[in-house]
Amino acid sequence: MIQIFSDPSAVAEYVSEALIAKIRSKPEAVLGLATGGTMEPIYARFIDQARQSGLDVSRLTSFNLDEYVGLSADHPKSYSVYMREHLFRHLAFDASRLHLLNGLARDSVAHCQAYAAKLQGYGGIDLQLLGVGGNGHIGFNEPGTAFDRPCHVVKLAEQTRIDNRRFFAAGAVVPESAMTLGLVEIMAAREILLVATGESKAEIVAEWYRRDVTEEIPFTILKRHPQTTMILDEAAASLLP
Ligand code: F6R
Repeated sequence: MIQIFSDPSAVAEYVSEALIAKIRSKPEAVLGLATGGTMEPIYARFIDQARQSGLDVSRLTSFNLDEYVGLSADHPKSYSVYMREHLFRHLAFDASRLHLLNGLARDSVAHCQAYAAKLQGYGGIDLQLLGVGGNGHIGFNEPGTAFDRPCHVVKLAEQTRIDNRRFFAAGAVVPESAMTLGLVEIMAAREILLVATGESKAEIVAEWYRRDVTEEIPFTILKRHPQTTMILDEAAASLLP
């Protein structure tokens, strides 16, 4: 299903309401969370709505999609800090239920396996939030990633490092690799909301629409997922037929 809204704030309203409905129907839900610019207005709206409605988030569990290799959990550009700043510190979450990959894990391959096993121990993801990269990546599953790949270490695509430079200070080096949940864990989520906003996503969204499922454009795999909603603003949808 594709849903198109006027702008990012209308998108945020819709996604926030969907999150709240899910949490009300299942207060102990397992959420799969993403970072990035797309998610910022969504988390901001969710915080407001959750506060206004007195939503209980204390029984939720979350698993984040990805983390840069080499960044500590208190590095300002780590996804741990992103999540704390944009979501976790604003509501009464139970910190012991909030899971992120550790960018400093000594053995990142083993760490990915353990993270995937931990997620499985919680019964997998009830609701997965996804953004999409300009090259079609979801999580950091870059073009060419095998669809049967579970959580893994990835060398970031040059395009991704260029796109994400905007989040780093001038002169700082964008990490070359990351850890990410794989397409296996993402596709096992019971429900997925993929969000794309802004003109910079229009090309890849149109490609998604035109193309069959292909590893060249990782998020085309979502066409095989029975409970996925593509949530777009008009700018991201502007090249759709
Ligand atoms: C982030 C993530 C990425 C982003 C994607 C879009 O946790 O998994 O796939 O969702 O790179 O990023 P923005 O929203 O910054 O355009």
